[in-house]
Amino acid sequence: MRLIFLGPPGAGKGTLAVRCKDLLKTPHISTGAIFRDAIAAKSPLGLKVKSIIDAGKLVDDETTIALIKERLSQEDAQKGYILDGFPRTIAQAEALETFSTVDKVINFDIPDSGVIERLSGRRVCRKCGYNFHTVFNKPKKEDECDFCGGEVYTRDDDKPSAVEKRLEVYREQTQPLIDFYRKKGLLVDIDASPMVDEILVGFKKAIGI
Ligand code: AP5
Ligand code: MG
Repeated sequence: MRLIFLGPPGAGKGTLAVRCKDLLKTPHISTGAIFRDAIAAKSPLGLKVKSIIDAGKLVDDETTIALIKERLSQEDAQKGYILDGFPRTIAQAEALETFSTVDKVINFDIPDSGVIERLSGRRVCRKCGYNFHTVFNKPKKEDECDFCGGEVYTRDDDKPSAVEKRLEVYREQTQPLIDFYRKKGLLVDIDASPMVDEILVGFKKAIGI
């Protein structure tokens, strides 16, 4: 199944994707994670996007589209994928239509208060990317990942000023995709406010598995 996870920052897209990628037997492709890996590796892409991401702005469409086009051409994405964080603009959605067809777009519905609560407590493993939370999902040791022992840190773009910017950018550039995909009959709304086990039940029902 080819799925898009659409929603504001901190809605829980990455958390749900990690919980269901084995079930769906498809790769979880997060543009944000690809950019963060590039930043950590200090690659040319990483050096280009670091200040943009830290400020909560969007990377340019041309760079992002080329990245996803190449990623979706790889062997493991031929039977399906979960696209987490792409597309994020109408231009990206239109470009995607030229190289892939999508089965469903999952719209994570959550109020701003929920987003802020989740982002202000998020802690991420630098090595495997697992998302912890200081209240909802604490690592057993404060600064160490339960799964790979990597360092657990706070993302630079989770600082309050960047979060505000990300929400503004989401409203202006990404929210219009809700109507774009609803008109195509692809949109499925899910309530993203409950805990992840409950969301998973609603998600499975929504996609018919
Ligand atoms: P990206 O990494 O995609 O960030 P985002 O969309 O802002 O989304 P997040 O990763 O912040 O949130 P999420 O929905 O995955 O929530 P999570 O599961 O972590 O992008 C980062 C940046 O890269 C962008 O700002 C942009 O600059 C650039 N970029 C990326 N894609 C781009 C594109 N297509 N075009 C241009 N630029 C692009 O959950 C959040 C927290 O809540 C965690 O701590 C988690 O433990 C907790 N939590 C999650 N679910 C629950 C739950 N159900 N109950 C309780 N706690 C929960
Ligand atoms: Mg994420």
